[in-house]
Amino acid sequence: MKKDFFTYQAQTTPHPLAMEISHAEGSHIYDTNNKEYLDFVAGVSACSLGHRHPRVVNAIKDQLDQYLHVMVYGEFVQKSAVELTKLLAAQLPDPLEKTYLTNSGTEAIEGALKLAKRYTGRSELIAANHAYHGNTQGAMSVMGFEERKQAFRPLLPDVHFIEFNKEADIEKITTKTAGVILETIQGGAGFIVPTNNYLKKVKQRCEAVGALLILDEIQPGFGRTGKLFGFQHYDVVPDIVVMGKGMGGGMPVGAFTSSATLMDALQDQPKLGHITTFGGHPVIAAASLATLKEIVDSNLMTQTIAKEALFRELLQHEYIEEIRGKGLMLSLIVKNADIANQIILGCLEEGLILFWLLFEPKAVRITPPLTISNEEIKQGCAIIMKVLRKIKD
Ligand SMILES: Cc1ncc(COP(=O)(O)O)c(C=O)c1O
Repeated sequence: MKKDFFTYQAQTTPHPLAMEISHAEGSHIYDTNNKEYLDFVAGVSACSLGHRHPRVVNAIKDQLDQYLHVMVYGEFVQKSAVELTKLLAAQLPDPLEKTYLTNSGTEAIEGALKLAKRYTGRSELIAANHAYHGNTQGAMSVMGFEERKQAFRPLLPDVHFIEFNKEADIEKITTKTAGVILETIQGGAGFIVPTNNYLKKVKQRCEAVGALLILDEIQPGFGRTGKLFGFQHYDVVPDIVVMGKGMGGGMPVGAFTSSATLMDALQDQPKLGHITTFGGHPVIAAASLATLKEIVDSNLMTQTIAKEALFRELLQHEYIEEIRGKGLMLSLIVKNADIANQIILGCLEEGLILFWLLFEPKAVRITPPLTISNEEIKQGCAIIMKVLRKIKD
């Protein structure tokens, strides 16, 4: 199968991990040799409730028995999508009330950027250096890493970059700005958290000049940082919040939410301001609703804080310079990229899945399912420490 994988399936790098998957359950993935891997990556923050969480699987099965795709987004009333958007509104602070469901994170970013332009009547977008918001061309235009986008230019015009957490740069947001897009916690950059009320100051500036603040919660959202959305730690409410990844409990999804006044701009002048065939798909919406209910009903979010502390306590080594991030969105910043590679590949050998971050070669990603147990955290950290000792010798 591996040969066919390399021959027929498009690759994104010349050297994918190419593990042949047999099945997955809870915090574990099994390969076709039945080797068990403990999963500290969760499909890059997507499998928030682990693999095949029964509540998600049952919701999918129930929906399969009712109907699959019946109509393009937004025309028919479909229970799972309505209940999902209603529960989201109940969980989000005012005025975030109306949600547009999409197929992926990057599509939700496209919708959010278009909404900012349409609502303000302006074209300028401001984003942060080292930001990642997705890979379609609008999302790529606001990606703060030239090396990965140069080959695809020309991209969107009128996009400007500021330095995340740099207060002096906030002045670059002006009355020409339609929207400022930031990740609440910068992911690809190395899990950089906002400091000194940075997000609040950006929001104040946006309010002063009539620009909209878009927060990308695609990775930190859905409980990963110990609150449903990362911005809830920072005393700020964005004009538009974008979500995805962990929202679907392992299914492909994206969404953006704003006030009703704002969102309604997409249905008028022009009408059909954003359209999608499969966005809000009933099976995906059912899985997302089950995921959201489980995160909200359980004590997973509170446990996240204690689990972060356990990781920080267990992962101490002279090669680990820093553990960045919040909750179960953590990255080890090690001495150099070679050590990061050795940790990731060495742990894989030992049955622990870790991964890289997009733009920070010294980082090792730790984003396990929120459902990971303390025992599993201890087992995985023991493997990391064993591999670190081997590297040092
Ligand atoms: C912060 C952030 N924004 C946007 C995206 C894009 O989401 P998707 O891959 O679902 O298009 C990602 C995915 O990694 C992400 O981490």
